[in-house]
Amino acid sequence: MTERKVALVTAAAGAGIGAAIARQLAEDDLEVVITDAHERRCGELASELSEKYGRKFLSKLLDVTDFEAVEIVVHEIVKEYGQIDVLINNAGWNKIEPVAEMSRETWLQCLDVDLNGTFNCMRHVLPKMIEQGSGIVVNISSIAAWETSTEHGAAYSAAKAGILALTRVAAAENGKHGIRVNAVSPGLIYNDFLRRIYPDEFFEGYAENRSLVGRVGKPQDVADMVSYLISDKAGYITGEVFPVSGGVSPHA
Ligand SMILES: NC(=O)c1ccc[n+]([C@@H]2O[C@H](COP(=O)([O-])OP(=O)(O)OC[C@H]3O[C@@H](n4cnc5c(N)ncnc54)[C@H](O)[C@@H]3O)[C@@H](O)[C@H]2O)c1
Repeated sequence: MTERKVALVTAAAGAGIGAAIARQLAEDDLEVVITDAHERRCGELASELSEKYGRKFLSKLLDVTDFEAVEIVVHEIVKEYGQIDVLINNAGWNKIEPVAEMSRETWLQCLDVDLNGTFNCMRHVLPKMIEQGSGIVVNISSIAAWETSTEHGAAYSAAKAGILALTRVAAAENGKHGIRVNAVSPGLIYNDFLRRIYPDEFFEGYAENRSLVGRVGKPQDVADMVSYLISDKAGYITGEVFPVSGGVSPHA
């Protein structure tokens, strides 16, 4: 057993939210297991954190759509640390096609990464948290879960809405085990890779005309919310969703 809380972060080696969360949890003095479908970047972030904090950070190749692979990684984490205290389901995928033109592959891939991936990780981590009598799960959804919009695509919106339902039911089932489950729904959290998904018009004037705070979001904005939700300060909060959208789409 380790004195630090042990966190598993999925899709933690990209240019966006996952890596910011991994860095923040390391700063918050947690053991952070950096997982991603991209092995090299995964190892690079673990090395960066090890150098910065002078302690070991594990990195593991993990495609969240692979149910058996998730089971193995969770098993390895428990073997290494004896516990798993925090799960951050960050992995997401999107390709925007109108419903009337959407390929079956797009629909299935989006549901598989965003919704099934979140289930796969919870399915394997929750039994260990139940055994421990404690645990914290944060699922990264999106404002697409409730917006009436053509911007995000139906597969992504449906998957992200599914995450909110999964969050609520898992919170209801597991509160008695000392486990809190919440979701964070970001609005636009800018990274260059989003240019491959969204048309240029999506970004034009966003900060000036849509955001209420005059800027687009940064990965750290979401990492700060996650940092709060996994802390003892959030002990009375479970089954909830927290938008981080600069007021573009509050869930009020
Ligand atoms: N960026 C935004 O504006 C925004 C807005 C709302 C919600 N979100 C959600 O936030 C999360 C993070 O998004 P981001 O844009 O910051 O990207 P990110 O950089 O956090 O994630 C990209 C990473 O995901 C990894 N990945 C992709 N498929 C994977 C899989 N099957 N298994 C494991 N890893 C996988 C990639 O290798 C890459 O490293 C996603 O769930 C996304 O839907 C993002």
